[in-house]
Amino acid sequence: MNPVIDSLIAHRSIREYRPDPIDDADLQSILHAAERASSSGNMQTYSILVTKNAARRAKLWEYHYEQDMIKQAPVLLTFCADWNRMIQWCELSDADPGYDNFLCFLVGAADALIAAQNAVAAAESLGLGICYMGTTLCKPLKLIEFFELPKYVFPVTTLVLGHPAESPDLRARLPLDSIVHSEQYQPITDASVRATYHDRETEGWARYESIPELAEMIRTSGVKNLAQIYTQLKYTRENNQLISRELITALEQQGFWTSDAE
Ligand SMILES: Cc1cc2nc3c(=O)[nH]c(=O)nc-3n(C[C@H](O)[C@H](O)[C@H](O)COP(=O)(O)O)c2cc1C
Repeated sequence: MNPVIDSLIAHRSIREYRPDPIDDADLQSILHAAERASSSGNMQTYSILVTKNAARRAKLWEYHYEQDMIKQAPVLLTFCADWNRMIQWCELSDADPGYDNFLCFLVGAADALIAAQNAVAAAESLGLGICYMGTTLCKPLKLIEFFELPKYVFPVTTLVLGHPAESPDLRARLPLDSIVHSEQYQPITDASVRATYHDRETEGWARYESIPELAEMIRTSGVKNLAQIYTQLKYTRENNQLISRELITALEQQGFWTSDAE
């Protein structure tokens, strides 16, 4: 179609990396592309922490549920919602910052995620591989301590970045017409939901069955379909509630869980 769209459509998460370092100029280009992303009010309420040091990556591997790509890939980029810089600037300028609340966390998180996706597009256009780490949201207190994040800074997502050592197939997506609504939200029926997830059910189940540890878990847990893999094995209510509690504690600690100025 055109090189940008071709590159976006060819996206695949990479989970195996060669140890070769990333060229400094390439990393700078990726970070520059990230910073060119839109941000709310052009306030740029995010920060990007670059981790290359192997010992520090090994520590982050622990905090990211021991996902091995964290140790393999030469660079990790941790994107944080960050109002610390903006708040200090306001205070230095005799301006009263009302940014210690949940709305501002969401604004900073959106800024951080949009910048991260620009970094992804830039990295992939250079032939590098990436994988997002959703685990960034699972142990916020550990990451805050590890990066010495001050108040009003909160880790939102992490990118593993490096030279791919695998070339996986494209992962399927749900039919586009199940995602896109024209003008108004289209009601969904049981039949349309079944149709939407029909291919995913079979492909997803086959994928999990092909991973020996997961196949074993499927057998011992007795789950019967892909949705049950999600609800009983991968993303359980109990675990989601546990993580949510830690997130709220961390948001309080970092100054974002308030609707009133302190
Ligand atoms: C916010 C976010 C968090 C993710 N977290 C992880 C993760 O912790 N580990 C992992 O292996 N993949 C992770 N992924 C990658 C997804 O599993 C992947 O994007 C999805 O399966 C689709 O595959 P594709 O990116 O190859 O198209 C994450 C993706 C996103 C957007």
